[in-house]
Formats: sequence, structure tokens, C-alpha cells
Amino acid sequence: MTHYQDIQQHLSENRYCWLITGVAGFIGSNLLEALLKLNQEVIGLDNFSTGYQHNLDQVEAIVGKDVWRNFRFMQGDIRNFETCKAACENVDFVLHQAALGSVPRSINDPILTNDNNVSGFLNVLVAARDAKVKRFVYAASSSTYGDHPGLPKVESVIGQPLSPYAVTKYVNELYADVFARCYNTASIGLRYFNVFGPRQDPNGAYAAVIPLWVSALIKNKPLFINGDGETSRDFCYIDNVVQVNILSALASNEEAINQVYNVAVSERTSLNQLFAMMHALLVDKFPHLKTFRPDYADFRAGDVRHSLADITKARNLLGYEPTHVIQQGLQSAMDWYVTDLAERSDDDSCNRQAV
Ligand SMILES: NC(=O)c1ccc[n+]([C@@H]2O[C@H](COP(=O)([O-])OP(=O)(O)OC[C@H]3O[C@@H](n4cnc5c(N)ncnc54)[C@H](O)[C@@H]3O)[C@@H](O)[C@H]2O)c1
Repeated sequence: MTHYQDIQQHLSENRYCWLITGVAGFIGSNLLEALLKLNQEVIGLDNFSTGYQHNLDQVEAIVGKDVWRNFRFMQGDIRNFETCKAACENVDFVLHQAALGSVPRSINDPILTNDNNVSGFLNVLVAARDAKVKRFVYAASSSTYGDHPGLPKVESVIGQPLSPYAVTKYVNELYADVFARCYNTASIGLRYFNVFGPRQDPNGAYAAVIPLWVSALIKNKPLFINGDGETSRDFCYIDNVVQVNILSALASNEEAINQVYNVAVSERTSLNQLFAMMHALLVDKFPHLKTFRPDYADFRAGDVRHSLADITKARNLLGYEPTHVIQQGLQSAMDWYVTDLAERSDDDSCNRQAV
């Protein structure tokens, strides 16, 4: 039995109360699904700024009406402290996911990004401290590595941030760290590398690369690769992210607490390789793809050239073992994307890729 299987077994026999902020979003709704399947009680907070009711509806359909009763949804905003206070009441573990993602969005609107990602974060952190939660696990980001050229990225070596978004995510780490010193709180920060999987939004100007490209491929729309396509990322399937959140909440090893961890697979994939993999998975189902070619566009401001994680720390201290490499993740996600995107109406988003 792996350590994660032990923890899952423990959870299925012991019910805790979890708060997931950003529960209607991509990562939040997947955490919700996993926790409900483990018979946990979950409170979810979201203001639907980038999340959707249909994500919650999908989880309800998957887990069924009876299990769904273990979930309580609060529509509200983490920028309101009273809301955060109410959400943290009687909670054992907080999984804080709510934030405005996207580097370009933060470059366009740094004040809005700061309000959500820094002031909102601080509200949830203070509310969690006051409610004496057992653990505060939060979504940090690989963007914190900024301009540091070293590869693979190790948690202790970071560079200068390249975007307002990266600043906000680093400030989260600083707050969590200083709260541990000043108030003895127990936090864990998870530096997600490019996460993908079911329920990741393919629409809008700030969509992430994989859902955006699936959408373009299926709908036979132009698909743009920024730069020469040799930009690379460490793509991480959602099941790995769910695993590490749950391991972080339940980690009992003192050394593991009040730390930040890379969350990835430690495999590098260029955008050209990613395109080829996705194309290969879809071409038999969509004959128009036989002649489909991507377009190349300019490099984009704020993007780092290469990203690759060292995941030794999460392996050693949390017992993290990724279950899906990119190919397996794409395979698992593709059926969902094909069904979901076919059902959804078209939108007018341009298919510029965002990594
Ligand atoms: N997806 C990735 O590859 C990735 C990489 C690094 C870090 N992250 C971080 O992971 C977290 C989750 O990302 P995601 O990909 O699921 O994004 P998402 O946009 O799908 O989910 C974010 C959720 O937070 C909610 N939210 C935003 N601001 C809020 C507010 N003020 N009050 C209440 N709810 C609010 C949104 O409505 C949405 O449902 C974010 O903190 C993001 O910065 C994601």
C-alpha cells in the first residue's frame, strides 16, 4: 500500500470537515469530488468570478444525491473577511484555491489580482488562524521561480518575479511563513506547475494551453503557439494535485509543515511535443485534423522559457508519488474534453495559448 492509499483509507474511516475556497473552479471542483468520494464533509466558497455552477453540477452528478448532502456551498468573496470567518467555522482543514490565475490578466489588471490574491489570501489565512484549523494548505505557484534560469527548480532557489501574479503568489508564501512564526499556524504551500484535467476552462482570454488547444483542435479553429514552440513546461495532471493536497492536509511529520513544495511530475514537454501528443490523441476521432497545422505567434511577455520541477522534497516529506505522467493525463482528460466541449456552445475567445 502506498502512503496515499493509507491516507485515503484513514479518511474513508474518519470524517473531517474541509473548506475548499475556489470550489467552483477547475482544481477546487476536483478536490471536492475526491473528498466527497472519501466520505468527507466539505464546505465550498466561491464568487463565480472564474468558476462555474456547471462544475459543481458535474460533481453532484458524479457522486450522487446522497453523498452531495455532505457538501455545503457558500457563494461569497474572499475579499470579505466576515465571509471568510463564517466559512472557516468548525473546519479541520482549509484547501485555499481561490485566486485570479493567469500571468497576462495580472499584467492587465494588477490591482484586481492583488485584491483577490493577496488581500483575499490574508483574509482566509487570518480566519483559518482564528478558527484554529488543523492545517492551511494553499495554492502557490511555479511562477515564483521567476527569472531564475536553473533547472530543475528546487524550492529553496527562486529568482525575481516576472509578473504581478508571481508577486502575489510569493507574498502568499511570505505571509504563511510569517504567520507560523508569529501565531504558530500550520500551513503548507503547493507550487503548482501547469495543471490540467477535466473541468479546466477552455474559454476566455486567459484560458490555459491544454483546454484551449483541445477546443481549437476539435472545432477546427486556428491554434497559435507562442514563440518557436520549444518553450517547455512540466505539465501536471489534476489527480497528482488532488493527491498532494490531501497528503499535505494530513501530514503528521513536523518537518513537513510550514514548507512549500513543487507539485509537478518532473518531466519536461515542449509546446511542439504537446501539440503532437494532443493531435495524435484526437486525429482518429476528428478527420479534419489530418491536415491541421498550428500557427506560430510572438513570444508572450511574462512567460518563462523553460519550467521543470524537482519533486524530491514532496516525495520525501509528504510521500507524494505522481500517478499520471502527461501522456496518461492527456489520455484520461481527452474523453471528458471531447464530450464537454461538444456539448458547450462556441464562444468568441481567441485561441492564443497561455502557459
Ligand atoms: N491551473 C494551474 O495550472 C495553476 C498553476 C499554478 C497555480 N494555480 C493556482 O491554483 C488555484 C486554482 O486554480 P484553477 O486553475 O483551479 O483556477 P480557476 O479559475 O478554475 O479557479 C479559481 C476559483 O476561485 C474562485 N475565486 C476567484 N476569486 C475569488 C474570490 N475573490 N472569492 C471567492 N472565490 C474566488 C473562482 O471563481 C474560481 O472558481 C489558484 O490559486 C491558482 O492561482 C493554478
